[in-house]
Amino acid sequence: MIAIGSDHAGWELKKALMAHLEEIGEKYIETGCTDGKSIDYPAVARDTCELVISGKADRAVLICGTGIGISISANKVKGIRAALCTDCYMAKYTRLHNDANVLCLGGRVIGEGLATEILDTFLSTGFEGGRHQRRIDMIADIENEAKYK
Ligand code: RB5
Repeated sequence: MIAIGSDHAGWELKKALMAHLEEIGEKYIETGCTDGKSIDYPAVARDTCELVISGKADRAVLICGTGIGISISANKVKGIRAALCTDCYMAKYTRLHNDANVLCLGGRVIGEGLATEILDTFLSTGFEGGRHQRRIDMIADIENEAKYK
């Protein structure tokens, strides 16, 4: 199950990617903007990441205008590793090395064709583990440091 959310600036791209998910038979939960009206991206990030953390979704896709605000917000949620990707290489390696559980995209930055290929790469690539697990554990250690509570 994929959660897919956007603000107003990512709404058009979200619609295109939801259609793609339907085409490839991937189930999804839609969050955020559903009518093009202005909506705050931090709230979308929070609600969508909650679906991943609770196990209702395996991974998520988040889209705002640049992909930046929504990725900054998502990475504040404990356990979320959100990656803003602008090409397939980034999507591949953020799965292989970072075990990213949220893909962020800029709806005003990339077109539907590239975004679709990035999404397919993100969904089809597994985590490599090994030395990369140790580094992910170190990210979790930072989250758990008392001074950041
Ligand atoms: C909305 O205008 C825009 O600021 C938002 O979508 C995003 O790009 C923020 O990072």
